[in-house]
Amino acid sequence: MKEMTIMDATVLTSPNPLTLICSQNEDGTTNLAPICFVSYLSFNPPMIGFACGKQSHTGIRVRETGKVIVTVPGESMAQTVIACGGSTGANTNKVAENHIEMVPVAGSDIQIPEDTRLAMVATLEQSVEVGDHILHICKVDKFLRDESRRGLYAWNGFGKVSPAAEG
Ligand SMILES: Cc1cc2nc3c(=O)[nH]c(=O)nc-3n(C[C@H](O)[C@H](O)[C@H](O)COP(=O)(O)O)c2cc1C
Repeated sequence: MKEMTIMDATVLTSPNPLTLICSQNEDGTTNLAPICFVSYLSFNPPMIGFACGKQSHTGIRVRETGKVIVTVPGESMAQTVIACGGSTGANTNKVAENHIEMVPVAGSDIQIPEDTRLAMVATLEQSVEVGDHILHICKVDKFLRDESRRGLYAWNGFGKVSPAAEG
């Protein structure tokens, strides 16, 4: 066995789960950020967790509003996902800038992209500082699906976004 860095390890675990996290901007619009640091945490109650860098606008807004929708983006979103990872909602309206078609979600103030395979509507329960990230532990209020859409994964660590051969 050869020793390596955590970045090398993320390449070896590819494809990695990829989510596009939807949170609410101060003006009511939706902010979108690709996040791979995400996991199921509990079946009952259904809980998930995701970790954002400390400066991430997504993390700041989820902690301020207590609300988030964690989505798995559909295939047509590949380029858009990369674009959303290259700017911050702190000073950019990514939805407008990237001309992303959005749809409402019943019971939530946060919109999601139309091309979405899975949406987990969630409420923040706890945030925990973890090294250079903040882990957001959330209870899922509702799972929504459109399995006709192919989901995206992150390859090469987090460098490339495309569907997997299956799923
Ligand atoms: C494929 C991919 C995966 C990413 N995963 C994460 C992640 O797990 N955690 C994180 O903090 N940033 C991650 N990023 C970077 C954020 O998406 C990026 O910092 C973004 O600008 C944050 O936007 P925000 O400030 O609007 O929240 C990822 C980027 C890409 C392209």
